[in-house]
Amino acid sequence: MSAVSALRWRAGALELLDQRRLPGVQQWLHCARVEQVAEAIGDMVVRGAPAIGIAAAYGVVLAARAAYAADPAGWRQAIGTDLTRLRDARPTAVNLAWAVARMERRLAGLDGGDPEPALLAEARAIHDEDLAANQAMAAYGAALIDPGSRVLTHCNTGALATGGHGTALGVIRTAHAQGRIAEVFVDETRPWLQGARLTAWELQQDGIPARLVVDGAVAWLFAHLRPAWLIVGADRIAANGDTANKIGTYTAALAARAHGARVMVVAPLSTFDPATPDGAAIAVEERPAGELTQLAGQPVAPAGFPAWNPVFDVTPAACIDAIVCEHGVIERPDASRMAAFLASAGR
Ligand code: MRU
Repeated sequence: MSAVSALRWRAGALELLDQRRLPGVQQWLHCARVEQVAEAIGDMVVRGAPAIGIAAAYGVVLAARAAYAADPAGWRQAIGTDLTRLRDARPTAVNLAWAVARMERRLAGLDGGDPEPALLAEARAIHDEDLAANQAMAAYGAALIDPGSRVLTHCNTGALATGGHGTALGVIRTAHAQGRIAEVFVDETRPWLQGARLTAWELQQDGIPARLVVDGAVAWLFAHLRPAWLIVGADRIAANGDTANKIGTYTAALAARAHGARVMVVAPLSTFDPATPDGAAIAVEERPAGELTQLAGQPVAPAGFPAWNPVFDVTPAACIDAIVCEHGVIERPDASRMAAFLASAGR
């Protein structure tokens, strides 16, 4: 279990470790109002599909507290706009909508009185269940990796992106503890550098042998240093297994498959979206051009140069060897294997 954590509930408020300042500065951002939580999610203070879902759940607690204080009889109606604001803070990771919907179901079932204790208990349950799911899937995923393997991971999927331990990085942590990992390759993950800034930081703290590569090196890496697996997380897994994850995942998956390496996607059931039939139906977030044309506030492209900045891509299920979740492993996912697996998991 990693000592790092992305978020904590302290003295009646949500505190978020500002991931924009890592690894250099560890600063906690105090959120006492729901608008601050929605803004922090949109501004990338907190990242990673499970972590933004957990943050949104605590955001619902803050929304209900303020609405109940203002109008103890009509607070349920009053928080509708806040729930929408949280849900819309980022479009691709389904965990956000999933967590808000679960909190909505909980608040709909409440009798009169102060809603905060029950909603806080539900948010804490979402947080704790994510950590437990991470540990379960880490065991399933690690078992797929042969001892002494090299692996490549993309983006950040560690304790900072989840309730703790991590999805893909959780598998890597557990596999390393079992002697299965000789070396981890981490790509930088332009433009926000989640690989270089966050994953490398988590790996270093755990003493797991790792090297950084530029995103453009992944095909050459598979050709020359021959990692056995690409191991990634997910932001949304469609009913047929098509998987949205950080931009560059699809490129890395193609490179892995072209060189005989395997592709593992690791995500809790809260990332599965059976209502979305396939990858074509997934909304891919596009962010401002300035994220590409500037680096740490310095221009790295001519002033005013246009850019296209999709921050996720969709890896087709046909490029994925295994999807790992807390209920087990779906090998060679397709629509029928996904449906059978979800039915057996009670979803
Ligand atoms: O834009 P981000 O940093 O929120 O994107 C994060 C990712 O794409 C992760 O790989 C994904 O959420 C899986 S996290 C466990």
